[in-house]
Amino acid sequence: MANLLVLGTQWGDEGKGKIVDLLTPAFDVVARYQGGHNAGHTVYVGGRKVVLHLIPSGVLHPATLCVIGNGLVIAPQAFFREVEDLESLGVRLDAARLAVSRHAHLIMPWHPLVERAGEEGRGEKKIGTTCRGIGPAYEDKAARWGIRAGDLLDLDVLRDKIRDNVEVKNRAFGPLGLPALDAEAVYREYADWGQRLSPYLRDVSALLYERMKAGDRVLFEGAQGVLLDLDHGTYPFVTSSSSTAGGACTGLGVGPKTVHSVLGITKAYTTRVGGGPFPTELLDDTGRTIASRGDEFGATTGRPRRCGWFDAVAVRYACRVNGVDRIALTKPDVLEKIGEVSIAIGYRYKGEVLRDFPSEPWVLERVSPVYKSFPGWNDSVRKARRYEQLPRTFRDYIRVIEDLVETPIAVISTGVEREDTILLEERLEGLVDLGRMREDRS
Ligand code: GDP
Ligand code: IMO
Ligand code: MG
Repeated sequence: MANLLVLGTQWGDEGKGKIVDLLTPAFDVVARYQGGHNAGHTVYVGGRKVVLHLIPSGVLHPATLCVIGNGLVIAPQAFFREVEDLESLGVRLDAARLAVSRHAHLIMPWHPLVERAGEEGRGEKKIGTTCRGIGPAYEDKAARWGIRAGDLLDLDVLRDKIRDNVEVKNRAFGPLGLPALDAEAVYREYADWGQRLSPYLRDVSALLYERMKAGDRVLFEGAQGVLLDLDHGTYPFVTSSSSTAGGACTGLGVGPKTVHSVLGITKAYTTRVGGGPFPTELLDDTGRTIASRGDEFGATTGRPRRCGWFDAVAVRYACRVNGVDRIALTKPDVLEKIGEVSIAIGYRYKGEVLRDFPSEPWVLERVSPVYKSFPGWNDSVRKARRYEQLPRTFRDYIRVIEDLVETPIAVISTGVEREDTILLEERLEGLVDLGRMREDRS
């Protein structure tokens, strides 16, 4: 029993925030490894809704150290807005409990501008990004033009890097119809951010190494979802980072053997925000009913999420790519009283039935799902506190999913609050110290 990696197995918004918050008492550290404030992780405590973007979802537990890894891209404005919002709710967030990697890259004022112009330039083929500057910040990282959080600590280095960047960007800006940037103004703004950010900046790899050596347990937190991963997702309709399990090693500077188990968060149906293929999408009344009952609006941009049936082909792929040990199934309460429910068990493509997920969008756009339908559940899932109290037809649905994705379900979330959760204790043995979780609650 030690460290656990938690990630989303679909296109994001699976309910990672809720599950990470719930499991945090069993861990000492929650460390996020990729993405930026494109993420929106909703946590409800005592009826109060908190949406986190950059800060790890363990933050509401005061004893937990929260870590932001080098794999993230950080907009200082967004970071401090979130810190201030949390502090106004009484959450203490000093440097003793929040650490930011010096190697995390910064989102600079030009990144959202370049992104918006790029999205417009793609016309109908636009990705539908969150326009937070995430993609261009990762582009600069890979192009070796990036400015890292640690650069804020040396003002000469910072001024020099901003000057070089602005010179290059301004050359590209003219033809894009964008106004020229003022290097000195950007420098002054970021020098100020640097002063505020500096207490949080750490060598995160060394910090985690020391904490794990001292016996601390770490929950590695992924943002987005497997199908939005830059390499393994539905490229190019993906985000620009590694949301898959491997991203934890590169995004935090920890060795692969520190990740002991993987928990995949999986919605009982499928949603997607933005463009790109979505084989099981429902463009009918059922889709609209799921969207409204599930309150499926982006936690970051407020955009409506596209909704569809559970896609076992995609989730089996996600479990394989990440070595998912157990699944936490969320939002089955949304499907209550919807009538028959369907699961895609394969894709029909050019006269064949594909069982393996083809991540190429031009294939995914042309497949038609092979569905298996099941009786739905009319009794309330939400009221159940134990597995045996769940409607029989829903328990059958669970077993079918487990068989199809070849992974056991160990957690069933039946509502937004921490209490709305059924833990199948024997299936969490070795993954989560449930004794410690119970102590925290008492
Ligand atoms: P994340 O990005 O994976 O953390 O998920 P989001 O927070 O973006 O979206 C998930 C939404 O579903 C949030 O509004 C959660 O409060 C909500 N949610 C999580 N689990 C459940 C559940 O079991 N039932 C219902 N009805 N809502 C849930
Ligand atoms: P969480 O962590 C859902 C999607 C965007 C877009 C694509 C690329 O809350 O699950 P980006 O701005 O990252 O370059 O956009 O990725 N996207 C998400 N969709 N949940 C998220 O995060 C997302 N983060 C990015 O909608 O399609
Ligand atoms: Mg979200």
